[in-house]
Amino acid sequence: MANSSVGTVPHDGLGSGSKPDRFDRDGQDQLVDVQDLQAALPGVRRLRNWAQDALAVQPGESAVDIGSGTGSEVFTFADRVGPTGSALGVEPDPRLLAEAERRVRQSGSTAKFVSGDAYGLPFGSETFDVALCERVFQHLTSPARAAGEIARVLKPGGRVVVMDSDWGTAVVHPGDRAVVHEVIETMIAGTTNPFAGRRLAGQLTAAGLVVDDIGSHALIQDGGIGAGALVARIADMSVARGSITEQQRDQLIADLEAGAASGDIHLSVTIFAVLAHKPA
Ligand SMILES: C[S@@+](CC[C@H](N)C(=O)[O-])C[C@H]1O[C@@H](n2cnc3c(N)ncnc32)[C@H](O)[C@@H]1O
Repeated sequence: MANSSVGTVPHDGLGSGSKPDRFDRDGQDQLVDVQDLQAALPGVRRLRNWAQDALAVQPGESAVDIGSGTGSEVFTFADRVGPTGSALGVEPDPRLLAEAERRVRQSGSTAKFVSGDAYGLPFGSETFDVALCERVFQHLTSPARAAGEIARVLKPGGRVVVMDSDWGTAVVHPGDRAVVHEVIETMIAGTTNPFAGRRLAGQLTAAGLVVDDIGSHALIQDGGIGAGALVARIADMSVARGSITEQQRDQLIADLEAGAASGDIHLSVTIFAVLAHKPA
């Protein structure tokens, strides 16, 4: 695994929406870049391919991506539904929405984007054949409500994939295990819905959907994107909350830098994707 120097790159890079929302707010100018960097992670690409295959969108169908970001999956939907279908992205962040619309103009895609929120989707009941919600639930204080909205807007027989990471699966190596544990606990404490991944199946089931399959991929950080920078930031937060000392933080960063230099480094979190359908 190639690696960058740890702690020097200003992006979050562990992928899968790997940081609390407020980190996005800190780096507003970088938001679109971060979205693109995360989407480029091999684990995200593989699970997206799995999701698109599992959803098997057909020509003429209607498909929606909830929390569509810069819109890449809506473009894929648009290609698959063709001229007789519809592909929509719903996104609450105006900057991401504007970027998605700019990309539509550039590409000539038939994808459409609307402003909206997972808690109150701006559509009538039983509107869509297919829905996708990728790396959004970890940001939600009420994911069950969002699951209910997804169930509401799906037609009977409609399919959905919801995917998100689970911070209980984070691996940071090398480093003292007790210190790493505290740093991961800090990440968990700072994430709105840190165990989103393991809860997806239950939340979709509670919303009246039937779970058909669960896929997963570890998002393994390779060099150059800056996961080390994320670990360094979280380690700073761990110091601030008193769970590790400055010395322990510095040693962890030194260990990661040495690991990065020798190739003995592993930074990952697992993302889960649940395929479900609405009973006919
Ligand atoms: C890590 S990004 C993923 C974007 C896109 N789904 C993708 O996979 O490229 C998280 C997305 O969740 C969106 N989001 C956050 N809170 C939301 C909410 N309450 N309703 C809908 N989307 C939300 C953000 O604006 C952002 O686009």
